[in-house]
Amino acid sequence: MCGIVGVTGNDNAVKILLNGLEKLEYRGYDSAGIYVNDQKGQDYLVKTKGRISELRSKVSATAGVHGSTGIGHTRWATHGVVSEANAHPHFSNDDRFYLVHNGVIDNFQELKAKYLSDVPFRSQTDTEVVVQLIDKFAVEENLDAKAAFLKTLSLLKGSSYAFLMMDREQPDTLFVAKNKSPLLIGVADGFNVVCSDALAMLKETHDFLELMDGEVVTITPDKVAIQDAQGNPVERKPFHVDMNADEADKGTYPFYMLKEVDEQPNVMRKLAQTYLSEHGVPQIDQKLLDAMQAADRLYIVGAGTSYHAGLVGKRLFEKLAHIPTEVHVSSEFAYEQPMLSKKPFFIFLTQSGETADSREVLVNVNDAGYPSLTITNVQNSTLSREATYTLLLHAGPEIAVASTKAYTAQIALEAILAKALGEATGQIVAQDFNVRQQLGLVATGMQAIVDEKDKLEKIANDYLMQSNRAFYIGRGIDHAVSLEAALKLKEISYVQAEGFASGELKHGTIALIEKDTPVIGFITQAKTAGLTRSNLQETMARGAKTLTIVREGLAIDGDDLILPDVDEMLMPLLSVVPAQLLAYYTSLNKGLDVDKPRNLAKSVTVE
Ligand code: G6P
Repeated sequence: MCGIVGVTGNDNAVKILLNGLEKLEYRGYDSAGIYVNDQKGQDYLVKTKGRISELRSKVSATAGVHGSTGIGHTRWATHGVVSEANAHPHFSNDDRFYLVHNGVIDNFQELKAKYLSDVPFRSQTDTEVVVQLIDKFAVEENLDAKAAFLKTLSLLKGSSYAFLMMDREQPDTLFVAKNKSPLLIGVADGFNVVCSDALAMLKETHDFLELMDGEVVTITPDKVAIQDAQGNPVERKPFHVDMNADEADKGTYPFYMLKEVDEQPNVMRKLAQTYLSEHGVPQIDQKLLDAMQAADRLYIVGAGTSYHAGLVGKRLFEKLAHIPTEVHVSSEFAYEQPMLSKKPFFIFLTQSGETADSREVLVNVNDAGYPSLTITNVQNSTLSREATYTLLLHAGPEIAVASTKAYTAQIALEAILAKALGEATGQIVAQDFNVRQQLGLVATGMQAIVDEKDKLEKIANDYLMQSNRAFYIGRGIDHAVSLEAALKLKEISYVQAEGFASGELKHGTIALIEKDTPVIGFITQAKTAGLTRSNLQETMARGAKTLTIVREGLAIDGDDLILPDVDEMLMPLLSVVPAQLLAYYTSLNKGLDVDKPRNLAKSVTVE
């Protein structure tokens, strides 16, 4: 979703902004723009629909674009169509203030009607209302930029925003405000930067200051002045991001998604090394385990792929730790909270740590005083900071919109945590579960699957390319994987795919099966293998083109993809991998942009 970058005090501002925007491309966007000022009276605004490569060409084609302070933005349309006029930065009619924004201003229509009825607008965005309002207060009430900014912020009701503003009259100053939407300030050598995600500025600095909701900041080349919502100055030390800028490069891979699928065996090993001793003993914060043990029910909350990882986690916590566990979609939970148990414990699954829907639930959970854990890939992300406990996924940056290694990392970490919890409460099944050895087998098994790319590409071509509809089916934990498998396919190949509990098919959905409809069955659980096979037969009898993804120990002649045997509870870690690759090759061979599918954003920072 929208990405923000800014810099002050560096003559390479244009380059820094464009490179930063490129690093934020993964978040999903449809237009982009930059504004730079050289502090000698020259300034430039360049905006475009489409990709950063098009913005680069436009910048090159515009004579003399240069500057030492500037702001940049990638827009994912919320208010108003995708167009150059709606792209950020937006500016006041007197060309004095320039503004970029991530988030949604709920009351922008009221503000426009109340204060700006005589002001002509160039765009349909909520952001332009904000910049025109700042200008109005500055001019009519003779306020300086900061006072006009603060006055405007005080009028934004129930809104989410990360703002970055420039004033031509103070060309070396960046004005920043944050509420709900993520934003970081980077402290570099002799200059300062701003970004939605540290990844965007790792070439400039590894030291970042986090911002809290309601804070307002003024940044000059040598000073970062933060004030809290009450106007008090805030002293804050930067945190260090321990990540190599190259980790976020795709190297020789054509797409990030393929690189990230291939990284999964290493992610499994890394998690085992980080969270298990050499002898397989879980190394999890005792306080966290105590808090979880004190709970009478776990509530897992997540969105998209993370929600799907939660569905697998439920099985792990219930089997290994014997704690009743519910899984909820965050956008639903936030506004229709189910009846809670007496002592709930919340687990937030979120790759980015920034998903607005999940964060909304966490805010309510904190207000109610319940303990929580965030399992995330991003150190210091909002959900990590605001939950009681955090466990990091250590999966390395995930850039492709379609999540792959974060899903398997979430499941592996849930397995380690469930084992730790089960052992702590004396569950024999947990004591017998050698998670270290199992994750080793999983890593080897994943490697064998990713080494079969040619075969998977052929299957994608034979089964999925010609169809605009497909079904993944399975029972129990295989059903949980079928939901994720279908999501992968629809996200990046635009095939209408559904994951189904295979027994439920004949209660309605089988009506959709016609000649050559692809139906892919997951068969990894001994108890339900025969049943899923029967359900596949039922679809075949109606013309479906079926494919089986089967655990070796359950395979029979004629099965299509055989997965190495690991503990049944961990089979999702293997069965999802062919589904990821089938989605990848379907998208690739349709000539689609695998990493940046239409309409989607990686980090969904608005509700
Ligand atoms: C977006 C992404 C999905 C992701 C979901 C939740 O929709 O496109 O890939 O699963 O957000 O994101 P999170 O960062 O909270 O896991």
